[in-house]
Amino acid sequence: MLKMAFKRLTYKLLVILLSFYTFSTSAQEANVNAGKTLFKNNCAACHNKDMKSKMTGPALGGVQDRWDDEADLYEWIRNSQGMIASGNARATELWTEWKPTVMTSFPNLSDEDIANILAYVNDQMIPKGPVDAGGPSSECAVPTEAESGNRMLYVFLFVVLALLAVILARIISNLNYMQEVKETGIAPERKTLGQILTSKGVMSFVIFLAIVTAGSITVKKATSFGRQQGYQPKQPIAFSHITHACEHKIDCKYCHDGARRSKHSVIPAANTCMNCHKAIKYGSTYGTAELTKIYASVGFNPNTDKYIENYDQLAEEDIKKIFTRWISSQAAEHDVPNDEVAELEIDQWDGIVEALTDEKAGDNSIAGPIEWKRIHNLPDHVYFNHSQHVTVGKLECQQCHGKVEQMKVVRQYAPLSMGWCINCHRQTEVKFASNGYYDNYYENYHEEIKNLKRNKVTVEDIGGTECQKCHY
Ligand code: HEC
Ligand code: HEC
Ligand code: HEC
Ligand code: HEC
Ligand code: HEC
Ligand code: HEC
Repeated sequence: MLKMAFKRLTYKLLVILLSFYTFSTSAQEANVNAGKTLFKNNCAACHNKDMKSKMTGPALGGVQDRWDDEADLYEWIRNSQGMIASGNARATELWTEWKPTVMTSFPNLSDEDIANILAYVNDQMIPKGPVDAGGPSSECAVPTEAESGNRMLYVFLFVVLALLAVILARIISNLNYMQEVKETGIAPERKTLGQILTSKGVMSFVIFLAIVTAGSITVKKATSFGRQQGYQPKQPIAFSHITHACEHKIDCKYCHDGARRSKHSVIPAANTCMNCHKAIKYGSTYGTAELTKIYASVGFNPNTDKYIENYDQLAEEDIKKIFTRWISSQAAEHDVPNDEVAELEIDQWDGIVEALTDEKAGDNSIAGPIEWKRIHNLPDHVYFNHSQHVTVGKLECQQCHGKVEQMKVVRQYAPLSMGWCINCHRQTEVKFASNGYYDNYYENYHEEIKNLKRNKVTVEDIGGTECQKCHY
């Protein structure tokens, strides 16, 4: 009878664990699935389900960013014509673009329904399937947080399962014990939990595990000494590659012009930024906080749209006046409450000083270049040339730098180790056909390929693993 009770207990435990597991993983999916059904039944007739292309109505991807107030967005979905009549800015903008097409009203959708639809819209924007390291991408979503969330879930599950295993082992041992007592009528001596945990078998397993872990950490640390894969320093300006390279589709080479022509890729000078930011002076994310740093660097007066004469001889007080005036005038124009303006001026001016001066290096002048923090850095004894890879080798930036267009802050994607360079040289075929750079090689290899002696020519075959090619 006792045995039955234990069996029931184990069973209950399993059920609890299982339902807990399914709950924690599927709560999110339930919303998305409910949203999908609602979308199909009510919205799919006019809005494309890829969320990126227009149909009868606009693409819905990223729609929450286009509405200042979430409540207005909900109201729009329930009664769009009412919103237009009320004079709401976004509603008016939409109507100007899409009239006379009228969106159906959905007065019966609850807040939860709409939240679910929006969850589905966002979910559709996350790239699906295996992440492709090479080739540019057209998506600007960043799925990094989900990854770390998943890792926490795994650790948690592991702990729960381990605990469960111990409990079950204990129960089974109890059952066996009782069985034995029942059959033989005598009670043998029992091991306590403490005795089991300190037994030879368990102890040697723990020691083995410790050695393996310590060993692998040491090896990892030793081989990555001096290298910094994943290095992601905070930059003096909140420049985002997502905004520029993905959302606004500016070509990498527009800014990193050197990559095509020379050894170095080069960080663009602030004058390149000015090509656009002479006109785009107030940012949608930071207002004046970040863009003013560019003006202070090159000596552009945004109040008058003129470059300041003899800027590098101007006293800091005078420079400060020009830019704090800009900051407060913009604050007033963008309805920042009066009592917050003074603080805004101080904060933003401090940010400018911090971004453009470097006291440790003895640079106290606001004028002069932005001090970007260098991320990739090979040791001096290695020779690496961008144009060789980008122009001659026809490689995409992303093959070595990852999807930079999806990085809000750039991080070093590749290890930049010798093994990394050599592996790629062993695997990558040389693209002879269109470059003419290797006509001599091409002659020889062409013959061999024709005679079926070889089916490909890798970088290694043309000497890409010889020491002196990469080392001075
Ligand atoms: C009959 C076609 C039609 C249907 C059905 C429809 N819409 Fe629309 N939707 C439009 C049109 C057209 C616009 C552009 C504004 C206008 O002309 O009123 C729009 C605009 C929107 C916008 C504003 C987009 C932006 O960029 O700010 C949202 C949000 C939206 N619709 C959500 C929905 C949702 C959610 C549903 C389903 C519950 C839905 N729509 C069903 C036609 C439709
Ligand atoms: C609008 C100009 C602009 C565009 C377009 C642009 N970048 Fe950048 N890039 C910068 C600036 C400025 C920095 C330095 C600040 C930083 O690290 O974010 C930078 C930094 C980098 C770095 C790190 C440099 C280092 O210090 O090691 C890499 C790698 C890079 N960009 C690659 C790319 C790739 C690949 C693309 C195209 C997908 C691209 N960039 C598009 C302006 C641009
Ligand atoms: C080809 C045009 C172009 C160039 C070149 C360019 N930007 Fe931008 N930048 C944009 C656009 C478009 C936006 C989006 C504006 C917005 O969201 O309000 C933007 C946004 C920004 C923002 C965010 C502003 C905010 O508050 O939202 C910063 C910071 C910025 N750029 C810095 C730079 C820097 C630094 C450079 C030079 C290395 C640069 N940009 C070069 C077009 C450009
Ligand atoms: C074959 C791999 C590879 C490719 C392809 C590649 N890079 Fe690089 N990139 C590197 C390495 C390695 C460094 C570090 C160079 C150093 O420290 O001297 C680097 C450094 C940089 C830097 C920092 C400045 C510099 O030149 O040291 C920028 C910016 C950059 N790359 C942008 C780009 C862009 C943009 C493209 C595409 C047009 C690109 N890279 C293509 C490997 C590559
Ligand atoms: C993603 C693949 C890839 C990576 C990573 C890579 N390379 Fe290359 N590399 C190539 C290709 C492709 C060529 C051949 C270009 C051509 O057609 O000449 C090349 C050519 C070279 C050459 C000229 C070889 C010759 O025989 O003329 C040098 C030097 C070189 N790479 C150095 C490096 C160094 C140093 C690194 C690491 C910091 C590196 N490469 C990483 C793909 C790569
Ligand atoms: C394709 C380019 C490439 C070739 C070919 C190459 N190396 Fe390297 N080597 C590198 C890079 C990149 C590093 C820097 C690695 C780092 O910083 O961790 C390096 C580092 C080294 C180091 C310093 C040790 C270290 O880990 O920093 C030695 C020694 C070395 N290489 C020897 C050689 C010898 C010997 C050969 C010929 C058999 C050779 N290399 C061929 C790219 C190359």
